[in-house]
Amino acid sequence: MTPRTHDCGALRQDHVGQTVTLAGWVNSYRDHGGVVFIDLRDRKGVTQIVFHPENADAHKLANALRHEDVLEVTGQCVKREAGMENPRLATGQIEVQAKSAALLNKAQTPPFTPDEAGKVNEETRLKYRYVDLRRPRMQEILAIRHRTAKVIRDYFDEQGFLEIETPFLCRSTPEGARDFLVPSRVIPGSFYALPQSPQLYKQVLMASGCEKYVQLVRCFRDEDPRADRVAEFTQLDLEMSFVDQDEVMTVAEGMARRVWQKVLGVDVPPVQRMCYDEAMGRFGSDKPDLRFGLEIVDVSDLAAQTDFKVFRGTLDAKGTVRAIRVPGGGKLTRKQTDEMSEWIKQFGVGGLPLVKVEGGKFATGIAKFVEPIKDALIQRLGAAEGDLIVFGVGSPAITALRALGALRLRLAQELNLIPEGQWKWLWVVKFPAMEWNPDEKRWDSLHHPFTAPFDEDLDKLESDPGAVRSKAYDLVLNGSEVGGGSIRIHSPEVQKRVFKLLGIDEAAAAAKFGFLLDALKYGAPPHGGLAFGFDRLIMHLVGTLNIRDVIAFPKTATGADLMTAAPAPVEEAQLRELQLRVAPTEAPKKPAATPKPVA
Ligand code: AMO
Repeated sequence: MTPRTHDCGALRQDHVGQTVTLAGWVNSYRDHGGVVFIDLRDRKGVTQIVFHPENADAHKLANALRHEDVLEVTGQCVKREAGMENPRLATGQIEVQAKSAALLNKAQTPPFTPDEAGKVNEETRLKYRYVDLRRPRMQEILAIRHRTAKVIRDYFDEQGFLEIETPFLCRSTPEGARDFLVPSRVIPGSFYALPQSPQLYKQVLMASGCEKYVQLVRCFRDEDPRADRVAEFTQLDLEMSFVDQDEVMTVAEGMARRVWQKVLGVDVPPVQRMCYDEAMGRFGSDKPDLRFGLEIVDVSDLAAQTDFKVFRGTLDAKGTVRAIRVPGGGKLTRKQTDEMSEWIKQFGVGGLPLVKVEGGKFATGIAKFVEPIKDALIQRLGAAEGDLIVFGVGSPAITALRALGALRLRLAQELNLIPEGQWKWLWVVKFPAMEWNPDEKRWDSLHHPFTAPFDEDLDKLESDPGAVRSKAYDLVLNGSEVGGGSIRIHSPEVQKRVFKLLGIDEAAAAAKFGFLLDALKYGAPPHGGLAFGFDRLIMHLVGTLNIRDVIAFPKTATGADLMTAAPAPVEEAQLRELQLRVAPTEAPKKPAATPKPVA
C-alpha cells in the first residue's frame, strides 16, 4: 500500500496542484461519456475521483468498480470546472484526477449500501453492522461518543478523581433488575453476577480512602429493553467522600456543562431544582419534561361541589381529582378521545372524564356534571375557547397523577407541543426513601437500599416509612433521566434498620452485604455519588431517540446480537465442565419487533 497523504474529507482549493494519495470505499460510480467518476469515502468524508481514458490502466480498473470496493488512488488535486462544484461536500470545490489506482479489496454486492441504510430495517442494519457503521452519520456518532468520553475524563482528572476499575464478575445482589449470571467452573453450582452498577464497590472504595472515584463502566441488567434502555449499557459512575448533596450535584452539573460546551458549544445555565412532590404534583412524573406546559392542576375542592359520582366516590375514598387544560385540544375527535380514555386505564384510573370549551360553554363528555363549577374551573385552569379539559380521578392520588403524567406526554407529542432545539435541565430532589409495593405487600427503596434518609426523618423510619425523604437526586434532561445518585448511609446501624424495613433480615443482610456492613463498621467516611447514563447523554448530544444508534454493537429488543448470533447454545462439554444441564422448556417466544430508528 502507498501511504495515504490525506483523508477523503481533507482536500480544499489550497491543495490544488498537489499529487495526493487517498484510500477508501467506493461510495458511488458513474460513467459520463467514457470519463468515470467515483465518490471515494472514508470516515472523514468523500472526495470525487475522476478517471480519464488517457490513463488506460487506472481507467480500466475504474470501469469495473462497484459499491463498497476498497480502493487506493494517486492523482492530482484539481479545481472543479465552474458550475460543477458541489456545495454539499466539504471537498466539493476540488476533485482528484487519478493517475494510478489499486483495488485493495473487491466487495461482493452488500445487502445494502451505507447510503441505503435509512431504507432498510434495523435487524438488517444490525446483522451487517460493519456496513451500517460505515455511514457518515454513524461515524459521527462514534466520534462524538469518543470525544465526550475524553472531555469527561479530562474534567474529572482536573478535579482530582481517580479512574478505578471494579470487577465484572461479582456477587449477585439484585438491585432492582434481574442479574446476568455466570456459572463458576471451579465451584460448581455457584454463580457470579455481572454488575448492574459498581454501587457497592464504589462505596467500599470510599471506605478504602480513595475519596474521589470515577469510572466509565459497562453495566448489565437483564430487564426488558425500551427506546432508552438496554441490557448492556455504560455508566459514568462517580463517588466522593466527605461531601453533601450540593457538592456532588455541583460536580455532576459541572460535567454536564463542560460536555455541552465542548461538544455542542451550548451553555448550560445553573440547573433548576424541584422536589419530588412538586414534580409529581405539577407534571405527574419524577422526570418531568419542562419543554412544554400542560401542567396538572388540583381541582379536588371544586370537584367536591358537584354531584358527579365518579368525583365524589374518589374523594370519599381520600383520592384526588386533577385536571389538565389542553390548549386547542377541542379539535380532537370523539374517536380520538375515546381511544385515549381506554388507553389511560392501563395506569390504574377508570377512564378519562373530559369537557370541551365551545361557544363559551362546556360541551361533550361530562359537561352537565361540571356545569355548576364551570366558571371556577375555567378561571383556575385559564381555559379558553377551543380548549379541552381532561380529568385524572384516582385513589390514591399518585394513581391519578401518574396517569395524567403519561397523558401529558402523549398529548404533547400528538399535538406537536414539544419545541425543537431546547435543553431543559432539572434536578429532582427530596425523593421518598421507600415506596409501598402493594403486590408484594412490602416496602421497596425508590433508589437503592444504600441511600441515606434525611437526618430529621430517621425517627420515622419504623413508624412512618412512607414519610421518610432521602438524600437522592436525579438529573433530568428534556424528560429523560440522564443521571441519578444519592448521599449514602455510612452508619452500619442505619443501614441495618433500612435493610430490616425492606424485608432483608439480619442473616440475609450479613450474607449478601456483610462486606459493606463491615466496611462501614471499620471507619467509612460520609460519602455520596451519582451515575450518569453515558449512552443516554450521547443520545441527547447526537439527537436520537433510539439508544441502539449510539452503541457500536447493540443488542435487539430480545437481547440478541444479530451479527454474532449471540446468545447461542454451547457445547455439551462446556456444560459438563460447569456441571450444568439445560432443562427442556417451551418453544422460545417469537422475537418482538425492534423499534424503528430515527437517526
Ligand atoms: P441508576 O440505576 O439510576 O443508578 O442508573 C444511573 C443512570 O444509568 C442510566 N441507566 C440506563 N441506561 C441505559 N439502559 C439501562 N438499562 C439503564 N439503566 C440505568 C440512567 C440512570 O440515570 N448505582 C446507582 C447510581 C448511584 O446511586 O450513584 C445507579 O446505578 O441514565
